[in-house]
Amino acid sequence: ASAGSARPQRKRPEYIPNRIDDPNYVRVFDTTLRDGEQSPGATLTSKEKMEIAKQLQKLGVDVIEAGFPIASPDDFEAVRSIAMEVGNNVDADGYVPAICGLSRSREADLERAWDAVRHARHPRVHVFLATSPIHMEHKLRMTPDQVIRQAVESVKHLRSLGCKDIEFSPEDATRSHPTFLYEVLAEVIKAGATTLNIPDTTGWSLPHEFQVLRGLITDLRANVHGANDVIFSTHCQNDLGLSTANSLAGAMGGARQVECTINGIGERAGNASLEEIVMAIALRGERQLGGLWTGINPVHIAVTSKMVCDYSGMPVQPHKAIVGANAFAHESGIHQDGMLKSRDTYEIMTPESIGLARASGVGLVLGKHSGRHALSTRLAELGYGDLPAERVAELFRRFKDLADKKKDIADEDLLALVQDGVHQP
Ligand code: KIV
Repeated sequence: ASAGSARPQRKRPEYIPNRIDDPNYVRVFDTTLRDGEQSPGATLTSKEKMEIAKQLQKLGVDVIEAGFPIASPDDFEAVRSIAMEVGNNVDADGYVPAICGLSRSREADLERAWDAVRHARHPRVHVFLATSPIHMEHKLRMTPDQVIRQAVESVKHLRSLGCKDIEFSPEDATRSHPTFLYEVLAEVIKAGATTLNIPDTTGWSLPHEFQVLRGLITDLRANVHGANDVIFSTHCQNDLGLSTANSLAGAMGGARQVECTINGIGERAGNASLEEIVMAIALRGERQLGGLWTGINPVHIAVTSKMVCDYSGMPVQPHKAIVGANAFAHESGIHQDGMLKSRDTYEIMTPESIGLARASGVGLVLGKHSGRHALSTRLAELGYGDLPAERVAELFRRFKDLADKKKDIADEDLLALVQDGVHQP
């Protein structure tokens, strides 16, 4: 399979807060502008946030979490202007993303968040309250009964303000007692929440544990009035490097919204990376993931990644999946030889599919592991395709000597080798 045609041919289902009229469609909830901005040192200006939000719409994101309006006047203004502009911009397919603001479970926060998003065509408020024993005892200093009461009151308060798209997150859900988690979720469904998010706040979960979401969803749907009309969601932090695997396991377990960020930026070790989840679904969704699909157009991934990297000042590691500088580079001789014979040997997707132009040839990086096939191919690309075999053999020896001293061999190095008349033994 190749992601060359990863753009979904199907039209995305209409945005309805509590329902998706396609059982296999996975909503992409991007939180680059909220959780992503919580990466230490990654503060974004309102102008940068607006540009990123516009790019996220182009990418095909369903919900943009634009910020935490109570956090600062600037964040409020950024969320409000994104809600007014991007939140009312109809794209060529007639789609307008939902604009979401985060809120603690307090009246003043809820009102501020609602005030920031309410001008969008699809305004959403995301309210959270911790449900794990550790958080309830040490952070909130609240009893479980108080937590349930406050969660329900928050959802009801949002309803009373006119908000009909309400996401509730039991923070630290994966370290919460399953029975208590069930009870909280059941009560907020009855109070009117439309999306129930399961945050793996500390990145503690393992993929097989995340799949038990199916049991939780089944139980809630069988026993709680209204539970068939809510959407379940994942929000996976990356403390153990498992956020993508956990998000996919959650989707296999029945979640139809995944929360993620561009380049995986976010609190501590970051959040689930949008490009990883989306490309896994684009490449494997049809056959191995039960037909799952998203509305993301992968061809905009590279530009979005670069924009977020530049604006946030958070560099992308070279070997980062999908968007790292080395993601489509091939150094070893065996790999290069395979690539020259057929790209499918070592590439499961093409750089073009995420909007990258291939630098030259098939993305070969010449270094000490490279073989003769790669060298002669690059020489031909540089205009030296007709060298006699003995000359190539001699250049290959000198290339290997140089590669032992220098990490990457640039075109200028090759040209210097070819143009140097002195043949070395
Ligand atoms: O990590 C977390 O639990 C969160 C929630 C607010 C969803 O960011």
